[in-house]
Amino acid sequence: MDKIQLIIDCDPGVDDALAIILALKHPAIEVLAICSVAGNGHIETTTQNGLKILSLCDREDIPLYQGADTAVSGQRPDTVEAFGDDGLGGYAGSVKTDKRPEKEHAVDFLVRIVKENPKKLTIAAIGPCTNIASAIRKDPTFAGNVKEIVLMGGAKYTGNVSPVAEYNFWADPIAAKEVFKADFSKCVMIGLDVTNKIALDAQCRELLRIFDTRLSRFIYHITKSGMDENWEIRYKMLSPMHDILTIAYLIDEKVVSLKESNIDIVEDGIARGQSVVDIDGHWHGEKCNALYAVDVDVLKFYRLFLTTVFKEHKKEITAYLEQIPGEKER
Ligand code: RIB
Ligand code: CA
Repeated sequence: MDKIQLIIDCDPGVDDALAIILALKHPAIEVLAICSVAGNGHIETTTQNGLKILSLCDREDIPLYQGADTAVSGQRPDTVEAFGDDGLGGYAGSVKTDKRPEKEHAVDFLVRIVKENPKKLTIAAIGPCTNIASAIRKDPTFAGNVKEIVLMGGAKYTGNVSPVAEYNFWADPIAAKEVFKADFSKCVMIGLDVTNKIALDAQCRELLRIFDTRLSRFIYHITKSGMDENWEIRYKMLSPMHDILTIAYLIDEKVVSLKESNIDIVEDGIARGQSVVDIDGHWHGEKCNALYAVDVDVLKFYRLFLTTVFKEHKKEITAYLEQIPGEKER
């Protein structure tokens, strides 16, 4: 089977780091490039973190293109605090690299590579949608020439920066709106409704500590800040893993259940960044513009994630997964 030719547009970020690691480790995926965007930190931070993840995974051969530092409106979005000042839970300093970003801007790269490979490339957009919307603005054929775009963003019933808005869509709501209006051949939205369900719990995090490999130690440390924050706010021992679910879906579509939907984004006001998801045909006559993830198979996800990234611990992973009750309530 041909490998998925993937570009990851991201704002690393703890959960972006996890997504990149899974994509780099799975044989069904060929990561062609990483594009950075501001979000979990300013652009210098997210760019540096992307370079560090490539180095950590011994994949410095993969190019990284630096992208937008402001939303398409020109405003600089507030950065995420959950992952600390360095975006990697205070642990960014543990990885050193001399690798530099490419000279070409991420938006120019996206436009060029998609034009050169029509209908061949998949994009995982796991930060604010600024680079993608800018590519759409720059080249009207861009969206039509992308094979598939999978977005981590939005939610039908919840939010994490307001009662109704998720961070990535809230940070650049105009860009998110333009993405859903752009007529991609296949557009998948993986929102908080499902990504909240795969948050890393204390027991699984402990398993990573026991594995004691370079990658497991890294993931163990960077997920501490998310767990501390969740404990302080909700008394839950869970660390967010949102972005990684986009990659798990690309590897095995059955990890999530999808429904045809029509999605639009609120640009401003009290509901800024809200994704309004119509799965019931309320907007009669409107063509569906996306597939919306309504549910996730948590066990299937964990099996995929753990056995891909920690292959050498397959026996322990099987034993651990057998002890987990069928459905985790998050
Ligand atoms: O709301 C979750 C999203 O915001 C994730 O992509 C996370 O990395 C942050 O950017
Ligand atoms: Ca992200």
